[in-house]
Amino acid sequence: MVEISIPSTRLADGHGIPMVGIGTHKLQGDEGLAALTSAIGLGYRLVDTAAQYGNEEVVGEALRASGVPRDELQVMTKLRGSDHGRDGARRGLEGSLERLGLDHVEHYLIHWPNPSRDLYVESYAAMLELRDEGLVGSVGVSNFKPAQLQRLHDATGEWPAINEIQLSPLLARRELRAFQRDRGIVTVAWGPLGLRDRLPERPVVHEVAHETGRGLGPTILRWAVQQGIVVIPKSSSPGRQRENAELFDFTLTDSQMARLDSLDLGEGAAWDSDTHEEL
Ligand SMILES: NC(=O)c1ccc[n+]([C@@H]2O[C@H](COP(=O)([O-])OP(=O)(O)OC[C@H]3O[C@@H](n4cnc5c(N)ncnc54)[C@H](OP(=O)(O)O)[C@@H]3O)[C@@H](O)[C@H]2O)c1
Repeated sequence: MVEISIPSTRLADGHGIPMVGIGTHKLQGDEGLAALTSAIGLGYRLVDTAAQYGNEEVVGEALRASGVPRDELQVMTKLRGSDHGRDGARRGLEGSLERLGLDHVEHYLIHWPNPSRDLYVESYAAMLELRDEGLVGSVGVSNFKPAQLQRLHDATGEWPAINEIQLSPLLARRELRAFQRDRGIVTVAWGPLGLRDRLPERPVVHEVAHETGRGLGPTILRWAVQQGIVVIPKSSSPGRQRENAELFDFTLTDSQMARLDSLDLGEGAAWDSDTHEEL
């Protein structure tokens, strides 16, 4: 089997990150293990997980079963809401490392800001210390808005390396992305296939996919990677995992990009992290 070669982009802190990773939400047990073993075997080198997903053990098992050297693999996991705070951040990371069976992770993110508790700045500062101790490669966040990102920088002088946000052609997040681009924050897209909002049913997507001859999934994902956005599609099917990673041998034309751009529902359609909180 020929492995897919997935190019990387560079974070502001100097570390590389593959442009396509495998999402793991809902990948559990033996089925999850088989799916992740397949993805790594196909050439995926970035695995997105979270303490909240309850599958870090399975992710760790898949990494070990893959036979791929540890330094070629990247794990992205996340601090859950119930672990926010200075001590909680350390406890949260220690728990994740234990479940993963690892002594460090490449990327550690705050999963949701949970502003009603107002502990995300303190958590972030603690995570920078954990990075300086060598337990974490890059510190990032997820689901943060510009004002929330700004508070992190005001308190620590450092922008997070990554913001992992809900993003697809239906939720293009233009203003947030421009804010991030100007500050060297790499955008990672969750839900990149837009299934929650039934993106694949849109006639425009069918039209563009027909023109590319590459299927709905790859056409949607190409729209993101062509703009420098890292994508982490989840699939338990080896066939769909393969097509979701084979995004670098075709290009969408300006007209195809513009037609997909026209689907944007605006910021109001995205989950709002001023009010949506997760533990
Ligand atoms: N930070 C956050 O708050 C947050 C929130 C949600 C998700 N995430 C992360 O982002 C990852 C991706 O998001 P997601 O899982 O919500 O959504 P997604 O990756 O956009 O969509 C996953 C769904 O699409 C199907 N699928 C995958 N490839 C396909 C293809 N080529 N054609 C048609 N269907 C396809 C999958 O089914 P099959 O498995 O049957 O292929 C699965 O049902 C998650 O797994 C998780 O790691 C992060």
